[in-house]
Amino acid sequence: MALFQSSTSTLPEVTPVPRHIAVIMDGNGRWAKQRFMPRVMGHQRGVESVRSIVKACNNKGVGFLTLFAFSSENWRRPADEVTFLMKLFLKVLEKEVSKMHASNIRLRIIGDRTRFDEALVRHIENAEKLTAANTGLVLTIAANYGGRWDVMQAMHGLIQANPNRTTAFEEDELTPYLSMNYAPDPDLFIRTGGEQRISNFLLWQLAYTELYVTDTLWPAFDLKAFELALESYQKRERRFGRISEQLKGEKNA
Ligand code: FPP
Repeated sequence: MALFQSSTSTLPEVTPVPRHIAVIMDGNGRWAKQRFMPRVMGHQRGVESVRSIVKACNNKGVGFLTLFAFSSENWRRPADEVTFLMKLFLKVLEKEVSKMHASNIRLRIIGDRTRFDEALVRHIENAEKLTAANTGLVLTIAANYGGRWDVMQAMHGLIQANPNRTTAFEEDELTPYLSMNYAPDPDLFIRTGGEQRISNFLLWQLAYTELYVTDTLWPAFDLKAFELALESYQKRERRFGRISEQLKGEKNA
């Protein structure tokens, strides 16, 4: 069974510090272009923002941080940019995993690994194994991930496990097969770079997530920018389908 139930079937606990933050790290290319640098320099600088946000989440007691590093659709980019991103991903794993481990961070990778080369898959598996018992922040990197891919692979798993089922499936029967079955649905979704879309990220899991979009480009998304996102989140009224008066009643009870 899944560790957590979804925000549509139960009322999740609302805490001032989000339990799960999901981020689309957009704007690396534009950041570099504004500085007359090649696009890939933006990705390189983006790693520094990753480092500081991971550290901040770990310090603040955020349970889960999920970063969209490479979508199923990003293969459509120019070949040299895709190659650069894959190399960067491998380099980050080589360089950062021992530091994450020392900080009690658990690393998980979600997405379709079948298109990754052998060295990358090996590093992913080793990193997950090394950090498996850590109890601090769970950092999930979505790589070659797509929300629709996730729902489809989960459906495949569910049907394979119930080949003779003739009655309808319930929502909670699917969640154990989704890639993020170990985490609650995200409380806060952050997208940098100003675009207002979900881009096939965690489609199922974002059902009741608070959305925060900032024009700040990912390489410029520093601790201060992150604090602003958290402040905005803390001002939201999370009703999960209820009316405002019901929440007030709950507070006074
Ligand atoms: C989107 O910006 C960013 C990506 C597709 C890659 C994100 C990768 C990193 C931040 C570095 C690696 C991170 C990890 C966790 C290993 P864009 O290129 O679409 O920017 P643009 O919209 O300005 O063109």
